[in-house]
Amino acid sequence: MADFRWKDCPVVIPYYGGKFELSRKLVPMLWDNHNRYIEMFFGGGSMFFRKRKSKFNVLNDLHNDLINLYITIIDNYDEFYKESENLLKSRTLFDNFKNEIKTIEYIDIPDPLRAAKYYYVIKNAFNHTVFNAISKEQEWHKEMLEDLKISRKILENTMIENLDFRTLLEKYPPKEDDMWYLDPPYIVAGERGDYYFHSLNMDDHKALRDICNEIHANKGKFMVSYDNREEVRELYRDYKITEIPIIYAGQLHKRDMKIELVITNYEPQRMQESLFD
Ligand SMILES: C[S@@+](CC[C@H](N)C(=O)[O-])C[C@H]1O[C@@H](n2cnc3c(N)ncnc32)[C@H](O)[C@@H]1O
Repeated sequence: MADFRWKDCPVVIPYYGGKFELSRKLVPMLWDNHNRYIEMFFGGGSMFFRKRKSKFNVLNDLHNDLINLYITIIDNYDEFYKESENLLKSRTLFDNFKNEIKTIEYIDIPDPLRAAKYYYVIKNAFNHTVFNAISKEQEWHKEMLEDLKISRKILENTMIENLDFRTLLEKYPPKEDDMWYLDPPYIVAGERGDYYFHSLNMDDHKALRDICNEIHANKGKFMVSYDNREEVRELYRDYKITEIPIIYAGQLHKRDMKIELVITNYEPQRMQESLFD
């Protein structure tokens, strides 16, 4: 069932492990009555772009190429456009940019040329991750750059941060009327080490649960998304855990079912209707 709070809206980049499809089910589960929306692990930001915009918005991710891309789109869009518009899809260019992105640790933000290279790699990589080779299927054309203007408009007047999640909490102490959406790297991402530039170990996952306790103690609301693991169920045993079925195209075109865990410190509304849509 459609929910008025979810809108079919483009995002800046497709993001590996992102919530682009799942946002249809998860956006209606957010606590709607909030003043301030905080996304601690922003990635491709599918939840933010596809929900109704709140009065105050804080968007954070530790990966600085990603944050450089967002800040560049807001502050230096014309320069970014100029750097991107004449790039042609080429394996050599892709490999050169990808090697640069994988080796340079830190960049000064904003850097439009670097943002163009990162955007090019993510758009053209197989499964949209820097750790993969060039994809044969992805389209690379100028109109994509025009579409970014929609995202740019939505990103206006937001606070964009490039901090570790613990530092973010210190900078924005939780308050009543907050909605925190937390989509950390899955436990499996920490075990494999090739999903993102930054992953979490078990101590980090525990620290994140402590942060949730702090949000709860300050009467804010939180929603956390995780992979279906016993460790997660144990860490969040004091909160509401909802299982969300996800159907995805598995090997040999078989449709496989997975479970995503969604943890909230409130009873999500209107979710039963949309769960199996
Ligand atoms: C599962 S992804 C988020 C996906 C996002 N919700 C979406 O729909 O695209 C997790 C993100 O956490 C970020 N991250 C990893 N460690 C972090 C840390 N210590 N502090 C803040 N962000 C971190 C990664 O860079 C990655 O972008």
